Amino acid sequence: MFKSELKNAQDAIGTYLATAMQGLGDGTVAQGMRYASSGGKRLRGFLVLESARVTGGDPDAAMQAAAAVECIHAYSLVHDDLPCMDDDDLRRGQPTVHKKWDEATAVLVGDGLQSFAFELLSDPKTGSAELRSELVLSLARAAGPQGMVLGQAQDMAAETASIPLSLAEITELQGNKTGALLEWPAVAGAMLGGADTAPLRRYARALGLAFQIADDILDVEGDPEKAGKRLGKDADAGKATFVSLLGLDGAKARAKALIEEAEAELEPFGDAALVLKELARYVIARDQ
Ligand code: IPE
Ligand code: IPE
Ligand code: MG
Ligand code: MG
Ligand code: MG
Repeated sequence: MFKSELKNAQDAIGTYLATAMQGLGDGTVAQGMRYASSGGKRLRGFLVLESARVTGGDPDAAMQAAAAVECIHAYSLVHDDLPCMDDDDLRRGQPTVHKKWDEATAVLVGDGLQSFAFELLSDPKTGSAELRSELVLSLARAAGPQGMVLGQAQDMAAETASIPLSLAEITELQGNKTGALLEWPAVAGAMLGGADTAPLRRYARALGLAFQIADDILDVEGDPEKAGKRLGKDADAGKATFVSLLGLDGAKARAKALIEEAEAELEPFGDAALVLKELARYVIARDQ
């Protein structure tokens, strides 16, 4: 059941984005934006849709927010893969944007996706002016210099640091780099539903940390074919990760405990939150 729910959401978000981008024409940047925003697991978009569903939010409005966060995420990946950052050739099983086109195009595709995300989110289709401005403000914060951008900067700095980061420092870094953009969708869903955002925020915080621990585990023991990206990068870069600090078994135990914490936060929603529970389990069981 969960797998088909996720697949349906992946297809729906993909179709929605393709339609929304039709008006962008056929220039190189527009082509790159379509290319970079297709594929992927759509976990962030799915989180918006499900959090809105359990709190009674409007599904069409939720789709706008889901598409917006997937654009921000896709932009972060295009820039993350650039030679000046992680220098990766493969993403989602395809050549990265700077390999398929060139670096200038990849910079502009990322820029375009970021602007386009806010165009979608601030569109009247997303809801009242007040709701839209709250969503725009919170996404700007999650993505920006106090959120994902800060985390990416901390990650870059960690690569050249002489002392590996401590567990507390890694947890903070990942909370910014990956956590903020996983927390926003759950909170946005609750905002769309006009509900208390606190339980879903706590759920997503635990889920976000478990997600990153799973990413670090995949980097060590995943199959690059399935993951669709280069693996083994963290050890090559001599980076401290949850795995290097806790060991593989310790990291797996920590991820499992976090998923139990995440699931406990869903109690107030009863059976309506079964899909969110399964999503939490999927996050640490995934092979891609
Ligand atoms: C990959 O995110 C980058 C990280 C934040 C670790 P995902 O694993 O969600 O990537 P896609 O969207 O499924 O490709
Ligand atoms: C990417 O983190 C996080 C963001 C783009 C915000 P990583 O560099 O660890 O992700 P992968 O391993 O390239 O997917
Ligand atoms: Mg990176
Ligand atoms: Mg990377
Ligand atoms: Mg990684």
